[in-house]
Amino acid sequence: MISEKMQAAINEQINKELYSEYLYLSMASYFDAIGLKGFANWMRVQVKEERTHALMMYTYVNDAGGRVKLAPLDGPLTDWESPLAAFEHTLEHEKFVTSRIYGLVDLAIEEKDHATNAFLQWFITEQVEEEKTAKEIGDELRLAGGQTEALFMLDRERGTRIFTPPAAAVGVGAI
Ligand SMILES: [Fe+2]
Ligand SMILES: [Fe+2]
Repeated sequence: MISEKMQAAINEQINKELYSEYLYLSMASYFDAIGLKGFANWMRVQVKEERTHALMMYTYVNDAGGRVKLAPLDGPLTDWESPLAAFEHTLEHEKFVTSRIYGLVDLAIEEKDHATNAFLQWFITEQVEEEKTAKEIGDELRLAGGQTEALFMLDRERGTRIFTPPAAAVGVGAI
């Protein structure tokens, strides 16, 4: 059984994952508005990932005998100065999420809650991937330096991304 404190902390993280979904949907809308359909596609796939993260946590809280309680979401930004600015924001946001996940693991260790600690390990690995990808795309955009041709090439590449549900998410109602 999951403690009240751990339960509240994961509920808070569900809110952050749903906020991430909201933020990336807002970024998708920004990219659509400036005609970068590939980046918009990339963001919409990210939206699905974030929903999946939230639902994995939802299912875990339920399975561990807890109760999911949803809180209001903050409103995301709606505009960014440039595609690069959006990906710099993405990287900053993912670093924030990583620090929150670390906080959850710290609490699980403090409470000797090995089940929750084990559950959270997937998210630790996922955050390495999230930060790496956001940084890589930011680096590419920095190299492109606002050159239209390079930007369109990168955009085409990002248009090929498809959502692949993680094996850990099967059965959580996310897909
Ligand atoms: Fe996430
Ligand atoms: Fe991911």
